[in-house]
Amino acid sequence: MEVTLESIQQLKKEKNAVVLAHNYTLPEVQDAADYVGDSLGLSRKAAETEAEIIVFCGVSFMGETAKILNPDKKVLLPEPRAGCSMASMCTAPQVREMKKLYPEAAVVAYVNTTADVKAEADICCTSSNSVKATSSLEEKDIIFVPDMNLAAYTAQKLPEKNIIPFHGYCSAHHGITKWQIEDLKILHSGAEIVSHPECALDVLEMSDFVGSTEKMIDHVRESPNGEFIIATEVGMLYRLGKARPDAKFYFPPNALCQTIKMTDLRLIHRALNECKQEVVLDPDISMRARIPVERMLSLR
Ligand code: 13P
Repeated sequence: MEVTLESIQQLKKEKNAVVLAHNYTLPEVQDAADYVGDSLGLSRKAAETEAEIIVFCGVSFMGETAKILNPDKKVLLPEPRAGCSMASMCTAPQVREMKKLYPEAAVVAYVNTTADVKAEADICCTSSNSVKATSSLEEKDIIFVPDMNLAAYTAQKLPEKNIIPFHGYCSAHHGITKWQIEDLKILHSGAEIVSHPECALDVLEMSDFVGSTEKMIDHVRESPNGEFIIATEVGMLYRLGKARPDAKFYFPPNALCQTIKMTDLRLIHRALNECKQEVVLDPDISMRARIPVERMLSLR
């Protein structure tokens, strides 16, 4: 059977389901979604929804965050193998070891973590509120897991804090080099450089704007410029193109998250139709993880 957008809309209605999709997902997935956004926007939507079923099109930590916020709802991850390499770099025992080494420190966990790492944290953050979340803590010493690049960016904005990073990274963003950006700038000298804070600090330092995927889109929408070098995952092209159909976008090579591209219309249809691929979490871990996630969501 051919899977069409219409058949998915029909199933969503029948099952009282909402489809949430990250900005990096395939265009066909974004077209099927009720909301497309960055990690923070998606967490807020997941917290607010009245639908009985949440179909999360993204990677596993995103589905887990939706489940943490909705323990009594069904959260489906259409492709359960869609993991995040950065999230899998950092385990709860590693965080507990860091806490032993720095007993005075508070823990900030980027949402790109497993539920059991979140359960060790005082507050979670996304790429759009890492500075706000970190500065909301009283402690001077902050263990920041797992992204060393987001940690370095946050530390630069908050010199009053002593940020102790875990040394994880996102392969797609960490692989973007300042030389690639310099080469693009030589070819397109008038282009603005717009970057995601998961990039290394030397890329961020040469950028005109740094922000989460949604903030990058907002910035491009408002900018008088017509050309942009985009230092993030290439899936952003779809939303950027819709926001600014007149503009040109240049991406560094290989900035690709393969796992987030695994979810397609067929898998969404199957998950909805069979109500399968449910995110299941240990209830105790989920309860503990909810505290830092909600603390983050309460920041305004
Ligand atoms: P945002 O959704 O917060 O922009 O970050 C996405 C992400 O996980 C990048 O790898």
